[in-house]
Amino acid sequence: MNVQLPVQAGPWHNLPKIELHVHLEGGFSLEQVAHLAKAAGEPLPKPLDELYDFTDLDSFLSLLDWWCGLVRNPEQASGLAYDFAKFLSTDNVVYAEVIVNPTHWRGLKRPDLLQAVSDGFDQAQADGFCDCRISPSLLRQQSAEEAMELVEELDHGRPKRVVALSIDGNQAVPSAGNARFITAFKAARESGLGTTAHAGESSGPEGVRSALDELGVQRIDHGVRAVEDPALLRRLAEEQITLNVCLSSNTALLYHDINRHPLPRLLEASVPVTINTDDPMLLATTMSREIELATSLCRLGINEVVAIMHQAATAAFCEPRRSNELHSLIDQWATNIKRHHEHPSKDSTS
Ligand code: ADE
Ligand code: ZN
Repeated sequence: MNVQLPVQAGPWHNLPKIELHVHLEGGFSLEQVAHLAKAAGEPLPKPLDELYDFTDLDSFLSLLDWWCGLVRNPEQASGLAYDFAKFLSTDNVVYAEVIVNPTHWRGLKRPDLLQAVSDGFDQAQADGFCDCRISPSLLRQQSAEEAMELVEELDHGRPKRVVALSIDGNQAVPSAGNARFITAFKAARESGLGTTAHAGESSGPEGVRSALDELGVQRIDHGVRAVEDPALLRRLAEEQITLNVCLSSNTALLYHDINRHPLPRLLEASVPVTINTDDPMLLATTMSREIELATSLCRLGINEVVAIMHQAATAAFCEPRRSNELHSLIDQWATNIKRHHEHPSKDSTS
C-alpha cells in the first residue's frame, strides 16, 4: 500500500520517543481505508474526506468497527501493522505498545489477527522501523467468559511481542463495571502479562479507582478525570501509577478546549504521566505534536519532556534490558542537545 504519512519536523522530531497508549485501529490513513473498502467491495458510508468527522466516542468506535471489518486476510493485517510501525518511525518513535482490540476486526480469527500483526511488526523492526509490542484489548461490553477466552488463548501461546492485557471502549455503557473482568485480569497477571485499562475518560474517578482495586492494573490509559478527586490524585502519586495521557484525543472527545485539559494539575500533583497519541491518524496527530501541545499547555522545558519520556521507559512492559536501552537513548539525546546549547557550532541535534 502506498501510504501518505503526516510527517512533521519540529523541535521534538529527533527526541527518541516512546508511546504506551496508541491503537492500531486508529492508525489507518484515509488512503488505506479507501484501499481496503475497494478490496472488500464495500461502499464508503460517507465521502472519504468526511469519514473522520466523528462527534463522540460511540460514533468514533463504530467507525473503527467498520474499517477494521474491511480487513479480510492476515496479509492485510500484517501490512497495516508494518505501515503503522513505519509511520511511527517517521516521527522517531523508537518503541510503542500498540493496543489491538480483536472485537473490531470481525473478518479475522483472534489468534490469526495477533500473529499477523506480530509478523508485520517483526518485519518492520527488521527493516529498521519502530519496535512495536502488542497489548490485546478487551471491549467494555464483553462478558466474563469472552474475557477469559482471550486470556486463556494468550496463556496457551502468544507471539513474543504481546506484552499486556488492556481493556478499552466506552466506559459509560450500561454494565460497564469491572467486576466481571476480575478473574481475567488476575489470570493475565499470572500469565506474565502487564495490565492496563482505559478509565477516567468516559468514566469519572470511580472508574480509575475500580480499575486499580478490582482489576489490579499497573497503568491507566487516560485517567485524566482523576483530577476530580484530590484523594485519588494523592494515591496515584504515592503508588506511582502511570497515566497514559492523550491531549488531542481528550480535547476532541472530552474537554473540547485544550485549555480545560487537566494535565497541568496532574503534573502539579506529581502523578506520573506519559504523553501519547491514542489514535494518531483519526486525530491527525503525532507524538511530536502531542509533546508540543504539552509544552505549551504546561510550560514545560527540555528537562521536563525528558523526564516524561523516561517515565514512559520506566512504565513500559518490555524486558528490563530493553527498558534500560530506552533510558540510554533518551539520555544520549539529552546530553547532545545540552552540548549543542553550550557549543552551538559543534553539533546539530534537533
Ligand atoms: N479505542 C480507540 N480509542 C479509544 C478511546 N479514546 N477510548 C476508548 N476506546 C478507544
Ligand atoms: Zn485509547
